[in-house]
Amino acid sequence: MSVRKNFPILKTKINGHDLVYFDNAATTQKPQAMIDALSEFYQKYNANVHRSLNPLADLATQKYEKTRQAVADFLSAQKNEIIFTRNTTEGINLVAKTFARSFLKSGDVVLLSVAEHHSNIVPWLQLKKEIGIELAYLPIDKNGYLDIEQFKIMLTDKVKFISIQAASNVLGSIHDYQTILKLAKAKNITTLLDAAQIVSHVGLDVKELACDFLVFSAHKMFGPTGVGVIYGRKELLQMMPAFLGGGDMIEQVLKDNFTTNAIPHKFEAGTPNIADVVAFQSSLEFLQNLTWENIQKEEKELTDYLWQEMQKLDFIDIYGKNLLNKHLPIISFNLKNAHAHDVAEILGEQGIIVRAGQHCTQVLHDTLGVSATVRASLAFYNTKKEIDILIKALKEIYQKFKV
Ligand code: ALA
Repeated sequence: MSVRKNFPILKTKINGHDLVYFDNAATTQKPQAMIDALSEFYQKYNANVHRSLNPLADLATQKYEKTRQAVADFLSAQKNEIIFTRNTTEGINLVAKTFARSFLKSGDVVLLSVAEHHSNIVPWLQLKKEIGIELAYLPIDKNGYLDIEQFKIMLTDKVKFISIQAASNVLGSIHDYQTILKLAKAKNITTLLDAAQIVSHVGLDVKELACDFLVFSAHKMFGPTGVGVIYGRKELLQMMPAFLGGGDMIEQVLKDNFTTNAIPHKFEAGTPNIADVVAFQSSLEFLQNLTWENIQKEEKELTDYLWQEMQKLDFIDIYGKNLLNKHLPIISFNLKNAHAHDVAEILGEQGIIVRAGQHCTQVLHDTLGVSATVRASLAFYNTKKEIDILIKALKEIYQKFKV
C-alpha cells in the first residue's frame, strides 16, 4: 500500500535489517502529519488551555477543543460526552472508581470476560476489595469468541454492570459486542465497551451501539501516546462524582467545600496533555481519508495471507484457530520446543518486531492453558513480503530448536 510512505519509522533498519513492525496491537506507528502537528503545536501555539484570556491560550484551547469535536464526530457522540484521559486503563479506572463505586453496592455483579486485558480486570478487583461487588467471567467459545449463549444464561438480575472488550488483543477475535450491548440495554444494565483494540479497524457509533461508556487510546490508532478517550452517556457523566481533584474540574472552591465544573471538564483535572490531544486530530483525519473500506480490505488480505502461510507450518500452535469472518489482523502462536520469549528475541534481532508473553491477559492464558504466546499483530501498512520474511525466520528458528 502506498500509504507506507506516510510512516517515516517504516524505513528504519535494525541490525542492518529492514524493520518489519508486527506489534501494532501494542502501539501503532505514527503518520508524518501527526508528527508534524505535534511539533507545530510547540513551535506556534503552545499555551495552557481553558485558563488565561489571551490570544495564544485562546488558540491552544480552540485546537484542543477541535480534537474533542473530531472525536465526538468519529463516535457519533456529543462533544461534552468526550473526556480525555491518559489511556484506556485510566478510562476504565475512572468509570470504576467514580460511577461504579457510587452506584454499585455489595453483592452486585460486574460481568467481565476471561479474555479481558488486565486493565479491565484489576480496577474491578480493586472495587471488589473496597465495596464487596462480585465478579463473573464470561467464557470464550472454542473459536475464541465471547460465548453469547453463556452470556444469556449469566445475565441474571444480580448483574448491574457489564465491562467487556470488543475484540481480543491476543486471539484477534472481534466479538459480537453488538448483541451483548443490546441484551444488556434491554435489562437496563450499565455497560462499558473496551474499544482499545478495535478502534483502528472498525467504525463505532455509540448511539447505534447504545453503550453507556466506551474507552480507547489514541496511540493504538496512529495517534500519540498519553491520550485516552472516554465516551460517557451525558446523563451518567452528570450524575457521577469527579475523579481527580484540582484545577479546571471545579466551579467554586471554598475553604470547606467545592462545586464541580460542567462535563466534560469535571473529569479533566489539571493541565491536560494539550499538544498530544491537538496532534491526535491529524491521526483521525488521516484515518478518515483512508476510509474504513480501504483499511478493512487491506487488512483482510494481509490477515488471510498470514493465516494461510502460518497454517502451512506444522511446528506451530495457533490460538484462536478459527478465523470465521470477524478477525483483527492478529495471530498468537507458539513454536514447538521454543519458548515464546526466545522466539520474539531472535525475531527482534532480525528486525521483526512481535510481542511475546501474556500480553496483559493472564486469565486468558490460564484459560488457554499456556504460559506465554508470540503475537504478530499487523496494520494496513504492512505487506505480504513482510509476512514472507516472518515465515522464513520462523522456519529457521524451528530448525535451531528442533530436538
Ligand atoms: N494492550 C497492549 C497489547 O496488547 C499493550 O499489547
